[in-house]
This record gives sequence, structure tokens and C-alpha cells, in this order.
Amino acid sequence: MKFNIGIIGAGAMGNGIAHTFAQHNYSVLLVDINSKLLEKSIKLIEQNMDRQVKKNIISVDNKKNFIKNIICNTDISLLKKSDLVIEAVTESLSVKSDIFKKLDKVCPEHTIFATNTSSISITKIAAQTNRPDRVIGMHFMNPVPIMKLIEVIRGYLTSDATLQKVCDISKSLNKIPIECNDYPGFVANRILMPMINEAIYCKMEGVAETEAIDQIMKLGMAHPMGPLALADLIGLDVCLAILEVLYEEMGDSKYSPCPLLKKMVSAGILGRKTGRGFYKY
Ligand code: NAI
Repeated sequence: MKFNIGIIGAGAMGNGIAHTFAQHNYSVLLVDINSKLLEKSIKLIEQNMDRQVKKNIISVDNKKNFIKNIICNTDISLLKKSDLVIEAVTESLSVKSDIFKKLDKVCPEHTIFATNTSSISITKIAAQTNRPDRVIGMHFMNPVPIMKLIEVIRGYLTSDATLQKVCDISKSLNKIPIECNDYPGFVANRILMPMINEAIYCKMEGVAETEAIDQIMKLGMAHPMGPLALADLIGLDVCLAILEVLYEEMGDSKYSPCPLLKKMVSAGILGRKTGRGFYKY
């Protein structure tokens, strides 16, 4: 029997996660506080599935059935029927803590809670619940339907059974789960964010133009995307939030967010999602 999946947060990541589970025939309940964003998210999933139809990855009939696997709602209490809930809301410990406290009350004992956090401590999030053994990090990569990796992060009290279950589910999505321990930024963002931050310093100090910075890293390091284009894809607000966690938790100035990044986020220039970042969209 397949698990019922609950997803909280229908932003860039939540909609990709919902898409991926629906495409592998899981029943998905997608919850967000903003009903307009839920409507937008379903439309975006349809558009992305249309692209998969054009590329012959799925058929038109598949697409119709996959979309039917997703139900949207603004009521978190409906997640009581979920066997696995994946949280993908704003990168803020206080926002996530409120959600996990609510989930712990609403969901049955067996439900596993996963968080898609990029940098926040899994152990701290798990401590908001009475089931820290069933809380884990399930860090999907953007864009979720395409990227193979799921960074699976063990909190201090995460059980072997929870880890095994989440790795099995990840494999059923045709993804590759790779395990790591709970330290700020885990592996992916601890390495990626200082590089993105340094690229923003290069831009701020006029070392090179945006396109040149990205081209140098693409052609020189064989990266598929330059760091500034990647920052726009991730969201500049998300990059800033991750760097702030790294800086605060590690107490090392090498993680201090670049002033240009802070300024752009203050101006509401957040990357692709607002139509403007280091590039215009
Ligand atoms: P986003 O800003 O696109 O979406 C966040 C969503 O959460 C919004 O739709 C918002 O309405 C919803 N939300 C906020 N508070 C809520 C609440 N109390 N209840 C229900 N919904 C609520 O953010 P994005 O980029 O999707 O990131 C989500 C999480 O995934 C963050 O923890 C982020 O660090 C992580 N992540 C982001 C990646 C990226 O490339 N953007 C990659 C991997 C992880």
C-alpha cells in the first residue's frame, strides 16, 4: 500500500515535491496558508507536466491521472490522514516550529514528519514535537521533478526505522537519497552558499559583470549553471536566510551574507519568483 503524502508550503519547492509524488502515484494533499498560491501552484504543475508530455516523458492520459492525485487546501488539520508530511514553508525556525507543533497534535502517532529545510537544525525542529524519532530532513533539490538527489538528514534522535522508510520512499520516486548528519547547512548548502556569496561579492566589487562571473564558473568549473543564475533560481531571500543560519550557528565571518544580497532582498528583488534578480525574467 502506498503512503498518503501531506505537503505544507506550495512555493517553489512544495509544488515540485507535490508534482514528483503525484507522478509516482501517491495521493498528495498540498496545504498552504495562501489559497491564491495554491491555485497558482496547481497551474504551474500542469504547465510543467505539459512540458514532460512534449518531451515524451509522460503521456497525456498519465498527466490527467497524475493531476487528479493532488488535492489542495488551506486547512492544516486535514493532514491527519497523512503517513508522511513534508514541510516546505519559508526558511524560518519560528514559522516551522509553529507548524510542527500543530502537526504533532493533528497527526496520528505513526506519521513521519520531514522538513525540506535548507539549513535549519533538524534536531531543533524535532524538539518541537513529541516524536523526535520520527522527524527527519528530506532536502529536495530545485527543480524537484528533474534533480536526482535527496539529501536525507538525521536529527540527533531520528530512528533507524524512520531513516530507512524515508530512503525507501525516496527511491520509489526514482531519486537517490544520500544520508548526512545534522550540522548547519548540512552538506549541500554548507558548500554551495559560500560560493554563491563570494560570486555576489565579485559582482558588488566590480570584479566582473554578472554574465562574465557565471560564464567563468560554467566554462571553467564545468558547472551547468553560474552561481548568480543559480541564486536567482533558488530565490535571493532563501539564499539570505540560509547564510544567516550558517553565520549565526558557526559564528564564522566567512558565512556573513554579502551586503549586496541583503540590499536586493530589502528591495524585494528576489530572483525568478519576482521576475528580477541578477537577471531579468
Ligand atoms: P517559497 O517562498 O517559494 O514558498 C514558501 C511557501 O510557504 C509559500 O507558498 C507560503 O505561502 C508558504 N507558507 C508560509 N508560512 C506558512 C504556514 N504557516 N502554513 C502554510 N504555508 C505557509 O519558498 P521555497 O523556495 O519553496 O522554500 C521552501 C523551503 O524549502 C525552505 O525551507 C527552503 O529553505 C527550502 N529549499 C528551497 C530551495 C530552493 O531552491 N528555493 C531548495 C531546497 C530547499
